[in-house]
Amino acid sequence: MQISSVNLELGKEYPPADEASAIEVIERISIEQVQRNYQTGEKPVRRDAHAKHHGCVRAEFIVESNLPEEMKIGVFKEPEKKFTACIRFSNGSGNSQSDLKGDARGMAIKLLGVEGEKLLPDEKNTQDFATINHPVFFIRNVQDYIDFFTAIESAKGKPPLKFFFPSYNPLKWRLHEFMITRSIRSKKVVSPLEIQYWSTTPSKFGSRAIKFSVKPHVDNALHRSISDSENYLREAMVEHLNSKQAGFDFLIQFQTDVAQMPIEDSTIEWKSPYHKVATIKIPPQSFDSPEQMEFCENLSYTPWHSLSDHQPLGGVNRARKPVYESISRLRHELNGVSRQEPTIEEFSSLFPYLEG
Ligand code: HEM
Repeated sequence: MQISSVNLELGKEYPPADEASAIEVIERISIEQVQRNYQTGEKPVRRDAHAKHHGCVRAEFIVESNLPEEMKIGVFKEPEKKFTACIRFSNGSGNSQSDLKGDARGMAIKLLGVEGEKLLPDEKNTQDFATINHPVFFIRNVQDYIDFFTAIESAKGKPPLKFFFPSYNPLKWRLHEFMITRSIRSKKVVSPLEIQYWSTTPSKFGSRAIKFSVKPHVDNALHRSISDSENYLREAMVEHLNSKQAGFDFLIQFQTDVAQMPIEDSTIEWKSPYHKVATIKIPPQSFDSPEQMEFCENLSYTPWHSLSDHQPLGGVNRARKPVYESISRLRHELNGVSRQEPTIEEFSSLFPYLEG
């Protein structure tokens, strides 16, 4: 259903009438996918998206000291507030494939020790921010996600071209989405610590709507080239964090125009200016022991681990609410591991910084 921009208000959601049942379909298809993975006997049963992680790292998330009043919202309320953050770097695919294959790259940030009421009943102390290395998502809305899943199923392991070109009628082609996918898959990524990430979907910032982005500091660059190892992205992070810290700026941009910056279409890039609201510091550390990798596997991120001030907005995010929770519950159950968020103490002792 197309939504006219006449009479739309900034910061507001406009869910289509038939969305709830479409979200149930997405949830069911995702659950069936994980159950099929379980039948293969491969252990552990992984996330059905962003299955492979390069690693989780311990970081500091430091709020800017001089934010204007309109930006002192939620976790950004207190100037210079320092949060411990657990950051998971991943590939986008649901398969644990080689890093040499074209794919989205994910950076999921979990702030620990966040006080205040949260949107989900199961988690009381964290604020998550999930991002990928492209400014927009390749799916507009919930109904299109179903078409995408259907095309994947019928493609039987081949690229789901039917989603982009469902018939000979060019008016039905999804060229915009096709170009986004192509652009995501063709990026040459030297290291997860050297690329920019975006939320792609909006969220609240108090009464306004924003998108956010995480931008690497220029001195993160190691000037290395891509090796032919299938785990080269983890290896690049290991090499980097063996000797020097990495830094990122956390940026937000406000929705300033309802037509040009829609809430309900995650394929449209917003063009409003970015404002820096926090700095992320990842000190030198080693993060790839079997215990650390297992800890990372068993974490759960969702944009709905959130204060109401940062509530996710738009159809794709409304779908993510039940899907992430069901998939996380199911994989923990099938793997026989408990599903809980880390405490700062537990996390910091497993992920010590390197001395000196
Ligand atoms: C309807 C749309 C989407 C669906 C159904 C979906 C589904 C999922 C699922 C099932 C997981 C694994 C959850 C778990 O087992 O803990 C996941 C992880 C993830 N998704 Fe999505 N996703 C959607 C949209 C997006 C978008 C728009 C982004 C853009 C930022 C995104 C970024 C991520 C990232 C970074 C992770 C990895 C989180 C981690 O490190 O654990 N997803 N997604």
